[in-house]
Amino acid sequence: MPDGVRRRPWAVARIGAGIALLTIALLFALAWHRSLPPIDPPPRAAFDPARVRAGAQLASIGNCAGCHSVAGGASFGGGVPLATPFGTIYSSNITPDAEAGIGGWSEAAFARALRQGVSRDGHLLYPAFPYDHFTHLSDADIGALYAFFMTRDPADAVPPPNHLVFPLQFRPLLAGWNLLFLDTGPRPAQAAQTAEWNRGAYLADALAHCTACHSPRNPLGAERRGMAFAGGVAEGWQAPALNADSPSPVAWTTDALASYLASGLAADHAIAAGPMQDVAHSLSHASEADVRAMAVYMASVMGPATPERQAREAAARDKAAQPSLAASTPTAASSAPAAQLTLGAQVYQDSCARCHDLGRQPSSSGALRLPLAVALRLPEPDNLLLIVREGVHPPVGQSGRWMPAFDGVLSDAQIEALALWLRRQATDQPPWPALAQAVQKTRSPAP
Ligand code: HEC
Ligand code: HEC
Ligand code: HEC
Repeated sequence: MPDGVRRRPWAVARIGAGIALLTIALLFALAWHRSLPPIDPPPRAAFDPARVRAGAQLASIGNCAGCHSVAGGASFGGGVPLATPFGTIYSSNITPDAEAGIGGWSEAAFARALRQGVSRDGHLLYPAFPYDHFTHLSDADIGALYAFFMTRDPADAVPPPNHLVFPLQFRPLLAGWNLLFLDTGPRPAQAAQTAEWNRGAYLADALAHCTACHSPRNPLGAERRGMAFAGGVAEGWQAPALNADSPSPVAWTTDALASYLASGLAADHAIAAGPMQDVAHSLSHASEADVRAMAVYMASVMGPATPERQAREAAARDKAAQPSLAASTPTAASSAPAAQLTLGAQVYQDSCARCHDLGRQPSSSGALRLPLAVALRLPEPDNLLLIVREGVHPPVGQSGRWMPAFDGVLSDAQIEALALWLRRQATDQPPWPALAQAVQKTRSPAP
């Protein structure tokens, strides 16, 4: 064998090692951000009250409290556990406490965190903090948010350490994520659209980060490009598609969307019961005009009611008009054992019919007829199972619509039969695959 050929594997190895070293060096270069000098926390009077008020509205739309305030703890004191496929990340204290919070942060440091995901001392932040959305905020809005947070009550709470899979504790790796997925800075308005549409698109994307839950993510946890609003997962719940593939039995209108976003409830639509409840509760503090603008934008993302959607709605309304769901003719074929279907019908009749055959009433004694509930039409059964197990509870401190939890009241076999029967009885969709596994997965851990 000639000399050159024999040496080639070494040459390849050397080139490979060279490339690996260069990549590591590049990552370190990208990961390195200077520490911005701490400032003395500015007095409240340093901030214009009008800017503080504007910042409060923006913080509601961004749901900063949802991730930064522990129920019963200090407002914005951090420590909220966020479960990700890579482990648990705890949110930071963003009160103006000089030690534990962001009291020592200049507006430039705050803007850098929101735009680039870099903390004041220069370390990279995990994208569980949706800076990939906040990066699109305008300078004026970042300034207003800064004024709002610097005028809150300081809290000295320190969040617990994160529990992440190896090697993700090593934050410089995030430079690679940012290189691949972070598209920084404000986005231009779309000239062909109205000012209201553009306002809605801006708020929904840059601040409310709706696609963070309503879009599928890739294996590195970034939203898949080109699949915005195609449906995603949040805290074990399915966040339905909000584009032309919306599975809603009743087609969404701008009015219904505005009502749902501001209150979690719209006529003839299911209530916000899972993670969306917190989003709607937070949006209830936003201005009517801003919520309306987001509704206008979302209605355009969903597109006009196609003949297919109109037919689906007519069928769902027809079915919902029947006085008794159990006595109505099933809409889909099923190869499930007859005994299981009989059990499902019986569970519905015994545990659900007294409220859900009545239709929605001013009190919780009457609730939406289930052929109108989106949970029955989703590609996965999880939302239905979670609602049955956990019930529906109004947000803390609010009165509202309430459904009892059936976890421990109904057995797994009863819940499975119920879900199987409801899907067949009330929709034209195929049976859920892997229903039994989903029933197990949604069971709350033994105390
Ligand atoms: C989906 C959850 C979520 C939302 C919504 C959210 N944050 Fe956070 N935020 C986090 C997490 C988690 C961290 C910690 C990230 C880390 O440790 O790498 C964080 C960190 C931060 C930091 C960096 C703090 C530091 O000490 O480095 C700032 C500033 C911040 N958030 C501001 C905000 C503001 C302002 C809003 C609302 C406009 C907001 N966050 C909304 C989850 C969230
Ligand atoms: C005490 C009355 C009551 C009973 C019993 C009850 N629910 Fe509900 N359910 C409600 C209320 C109230 C809501 C909240 C929204 C509404 O008014 O429709 C709700 C919401 C739901 C939703 C979300 C869609 C919606 O209506 O907003 C589903 C799905 C659901 N229930 C399924 C069931 C199933 C399945 C059973 C039987 C295991 C059941 N419920 C038993 C009162 C009840
Ligand atoms: C934290 C995750 C999360 C965020 C952020 C979020 N959603 Fe949701 N959304 C959900 C989930 C989960 C559901 C399913 C119902 C539930 O939670 O009760 C849902 C339900 C909905 C529905 C009802 C769909 C249907 O067909 O019945 C609409 C409309 C909606 N969201 C719009 C929005 C908009 C607009 C935003 C941004 C302002 C947003 N969501 C932000 C998780 C989220």
